Amino acid sequence: MTELTKNQLLELVNTKQVAAGNPRARALTQRIVTDLFKAIDEMDVSADEFWTAMNWLERLGKSGQIGLITAGLGFDRLLDIRADEADAKAGRAGGTPRAIEGPLFVAGAPLSQGEARLDEGEPRGEVFVMEGRVLDLDGQPVAGALIDVWHANEQGGYSHFFPGMKPYELRRQVQADATGHYRFRSFLPPGYAIPPNSPTSELFEALGRHGNRPAHIHFLVVAPGLRTLTTQVNIPGDTYIDDDFAFATRDGLIVELEHGVAPAGYESLGIDAPFTRSRFDFVLQKASNDSEASPAARMARVTA
Ligand code: DHB
Ligand code: FE
Repeated sequence: MTELTKNQLLELVNTKQVAAGNPRARALTQRIVTDLFKAIDEMDVSADEFWTAMNWLERLGKSGQIGLITAGLGFDRLLDIRADEADAKAGRAGGTPRAIEGPLFVAGAPLSQGEARLDEGEPRGEVFVMEGRVLDLDGQPVAGALIDVWHANEQGGYSHFFPGMKPYELRRQVQADATGHYRFRSFLPPGYAIPPNSPTSELFEALGRHGNRPAHIHFLVVAPGLRTLTTQVNIPGDTYIDDDFAFATRDGLIVELEHGVAPAGYESLGIDAPFTRSRFDFVLQKASNDSEASPAARMARVTA
């Protein structure tokens, strides 16, 4: 084998080929490897630094926390900003703003009609009801829209990820009624923090950054012919509302809270005393193709 310069090595890595492969995968890998060669050279990365980083990546993968790092380094929000840009270019506007899904969605939550109790009949914290309608851009109600809702428990943990929680705890799928209405009872979740003593927290400590998200509730709203909406709402008053580690808070997604709402009409949710309510309508754009209304690739990813 001949001696190689750095550039000759890079050229070889990027051009080796015995079959067609996947052209997109080839192009992206070439670009990323080229950028990394350059970073290693220009930042004078030592072998110890390199292998420490590779060991961290290995542990990160095993911990299942890759989605935490992508959010904290801004990639999830970047994809949303790019989607907003593409919409603006295509003249698509209006509706509830999208916000990152985050790494903690789980498909298959128990389905109920019109309303649900996320607290599963065991009151905890301040009684909170969120309610509203699913509408299209013309303001017409979307009967039967499916709303996945999920949020953290009192410790900021999500079921299926945080030890000690029941399957699908604080996760439900609510089908809007014939007039597009939905409502659910829960409690106001606190903020979220990345798990301590984990590959994720190691990186954020090294970066001198916190890993906190302000209190939020996630939604995935699906209806035939309409563009699937992934979003979150924020609860006002949180210290981190303008300093989200995942950069995901957005104007128009901070709900208003009404305190001391009279319980009449909320008996089916087990409410018999004044409670806290938030009204929020989800407004969905028309889908421009089948996959926008029924995102098969995305669901395959989360149910894998
Ligand atoms: C992360 C956690 C969340 O609850 C969320 O909504 C987004 C990101 C995270 O740990 O990266
Ligand atoms: Fe979250």
